[in-house]
Amino acid sequence: MKLGIIGCGAIGSDVAKAADKMEDIEKIYLFDIRKEAESELHKMVKKSEIVEVDILIEKSDVVFEAASQDAIKQYAEKILSAGKDLIIMSIGSLIDDNFRKKIEDIARKQNCKIYLPSGAVCGIDGILSASVETLDEVTLVTTKPPEALGKSYDRRTVIFRGNAREAVKLFPKNINVAANLSIAGIGFDRTKVEIVADPVATRNSHKILAHGKFGRLRAEVENMPNPNNPKSSYLASLSAIATLKRILNPIQIGA
Ligand SMILES: NC(=O)c1ccc[n+]([C@@H]2O[C@H](COP(=O)([O-])OP(=O)(O)OC[C@H]3O[C@@H](n4cnc5c(N)ncnc54)[C@H](O)[C@@H]3O)[C@@H](O)[C@H]2O)c1
Repeated sequence: MKLGIIGCGAIGSDVAKAADKMEDIEKIYLFDIRKEAESELHKMVKKSEIVEVDILIEKSDVVFEAASQDAIKQYAEKILSAGKDLIIMSIGSLIDDNFRKKIEDIARKQNCKIYLPSGAVCGIDGILSASVETLDEVTLVTTKPPEALGKSYDRRTVIFRGNAREAVKLFPKNINVAANLSIAGIGFDRTKVEIVADPVATRNSHKILAHGKFGRLRAEVENMPNPNNPKSSYLASLSAIATLKRILNPIQIGA
């Protein structure tokens, strides 16, 4: 398989290095608007080649995006229209219902897939299964040390309480998980989000609480930061690599 990577930052680099070791991946095309990021990564990844984005789309079988919401708006339609599968990390971009429907329609017509890795959260598998039947309530509680939110508090403070649609707009860099959870479950308008600044917290954590006809679900993860970008959780990179393995693997685990 030939893999294209758009965005050679923290997550793109982790995925490129992992893909370099995968037997089934023969070539890795790299593109970033920061030319130094491309060349740094190229030096570390044997199978890689730096190309312009149009060439990347033409030559890749699967395109992995770890760049920005703008990048998805810029390239997703082109990638899918070319019949290529797309893995999206900047899932907040899919809050735009018209845009999401448009790329879904193109993917269906072109018989290709859009993969959304679980990212920095766990429990998405349970939410997917539970949402087949009535799912009454889904809440995401994201807790961060105040400095990770650019704030200063001396006690635990809920700084946002609302639905996922508002949360994604107000915290676009931090809240891809809310977007992913909404798409997996009951949508952006019904999924509840709380963002908590907690001076006692040393790590970013995400807790999913849900109940419905299936019973109750409670899933919590405490994330280590990515060593190359403390704003991203390391689990996000690992989930991207796991998604890539899933695409290559004949055994498909999970809902
Ligand atoms: N789904 C999740 O759970 C999850 C978790 C963490 C991060 N993310 C998202 O994944 C993306 C990447 O995160 P990261 O930590 O690797 O960020 P990063 O800042 O380390 O790297 C992003 C790279 O993309 C490049 N870039 C930005 N816009 C581009 C464009 N239009 N075309 C080409 N390159 C472009 C930047 O120059 C940078 O090198 C971000 O959008 C982030 O919000 C998602």
